[in-house]
Amino acid sequence: MKFFVDTADIAAIQDLAATGLLDGVTTNPSLILKSGRKFTDVIAEICALVPGPVSAEVVALDHETMLKEAEQLIPIAKNVTIKVPLTVDGLKTCKVLSSRGVMVNVTLCFTATQALLAAKAGAAFISPFVGRHDDVSWDGMDLIEDIRTIYDNYDFDTEILVASVRHPVHVLQSAKIGADVVTCPPDIIKKLFNHPLTDRGIEQFLADWAKTGQSIG
Ligand code: E4P
Repeated sequence: MKFFVDTADIAAIQDLAATGLLDGVTTNPSLILKSGRKFTDVIAEICALVPGPVSAEVVALDHETMLKEAEQLIPIAKNVTIKVPLTVDGLKTCKVLSSRGVMVNVTLCFTATQALLAAKAGAAFISPFVGRHDDVSWDGMDLIEDIRTIYDNYDFDTEILVASVRHPVHVLQSAKIGADVVTCPPDIIKKLFNHPLTDRGIEQFLADWAKTGQSIG
């Protein structure tokens, strides 16, 4: 399973890229607002830092303007992935861009039938929002299971990119279901490394090692 980070915070991206475990980045207009920086500058900087797909979201609602916006974003770097909303115009745009060989991430997916449409439109990624589903008392992971079944039934190449991830259990469940990618806020990726028994074990081993009076090398 691939790990993307869901942020436009350059320092956080640099930090995670240094682990060698980062496969891509997703952004959205709210994350760009939070960064306080110019959209195209941030995307260019992220694309230079991370070789994997970097999602940049269009903000127009009609197909023609979405395409125009995508055409501004595509030349930024080879790894720019155009993010479009799951609407009729978004999927029209997805179809055109994917037929030109541009990677498209279809976002704001809340049903498995929406995901089916995105795959038929040639999306490279579908982004089902599990946390926002949980927020309205639906189990977001049921959606991931349904999409996995449908995509496997028809051998779609579209990758399931689990979005709106709120905690490490979402990551665990995504991996068990066989999602292709999870995109997480930086703090959730960091939580995946941690366990109190790991810390306690290190403390104990180091204490015993000190008692040996030895050094390595
Ligand atoms: C995904 O691409 C979105 O940017 C993101 O995961 C949304 O997460 P949120 O529901 O926590 O805002």
